Amino acid sequence: MQILSTLPDLSAQAERWRTEGQRIALVPTMGYFHEGHLALMRHARSLAHRVVVSRFINPTQFGPAEDLAAYPRDAGRDIALAGAEGVDALFQPAAEAMYAPDHATWVDVPALSSVLCGVSRPTHFRGVCTVVLKLFHLARPHVAVFGEKDWQQLAVIRRMARDLNVDVDIVGHPIVRESDGLAMSSRNAYLSAEERAQAPGIYRGLLAMAHRVRQGERDAAALLAGLREDLKRDVPSGEPDYLSIVHPDTLQNLTRLDDAALVAVAVRLGRARLIDNLRLLPL
Ligand code: PAF
Repeated sequence: MQILSTLPDLSAQAERWRTEGQRIALVPTMGYFHEGHLALMRHARSLAHRVVVSRFINPTQFGPAEDLAAYPRDAGRDIALAGAEGVDALFQPAAEAMYAPDHATWVDVPALSSVLCGVSRPTHFRGVCTVVLKLFHLARPHVAVFGEKDWQQLAVIRRMARDLNVDVDIVGHPIVRESDGLAMSSRNAYLSAEERAQAPGIYRGLLAMAHRVRQGERDAAALLAGLREDLKRDVPSGEPDYLSIVHPDTLQNLTRLDDAALVAVAVRLGRARLIDNLRLLPL
């Protein structure tokens, strides 16, 4: 596996592969790999001849009071894990190389970025879109793979790619969960033992909501009230940031569920802010 640290090194490698007719898949990450990241890498491998993984804790997607400095890191372990997955190139640039001191250009999709996580993280998706578009220009992928745990991120990136005619196929990969149902996340490392024991209650709450939908409940307010009760009982230390039932593409809140619906949640639990989601319709 090549380890590339400079922007010209990645561009030159991508250009060589493109000239040889090789299909490139990109997996953008912020490192601290877990099984969810490795599943993205394996999926990328099945879609292309060459897999590039970026490992970059993107400062512009963190708000001033967020966990940029504390975000978990382990370069040695990440390199070993990516190497074992047969990744062709791991790109890990310095922040100063990615952003000039007078960086002034942003990519924003306000209609999709200002809801759900965007309410408490108003500049988050602007930072995500900007770095992802930069990575697309550098790695020149034919396809890019993102986890569906960050459903809103995936929707925002899909819209950005469509609106800006970016010739990259955006592929979502199903959420990878721990055996007790907790969605895998680098931020799970922040949980105390007591919080970790409560955290799977979030997914159980989503499953209970899906069960109510299968039984015929279509009123979003009733479904959300049920979820709120379930979380109060099973995740008593958790503070919901939002609990929403939205259309999966527009991310607009639904009052009644008809053809397509997704429940998306963010719950603060100790130092962690955990997000999860589940498709409710179509059944
Ligand atoms: O999902 C993430 O880890 C990040 O938001 C991403 C897509 C790598 C952009 O920094």
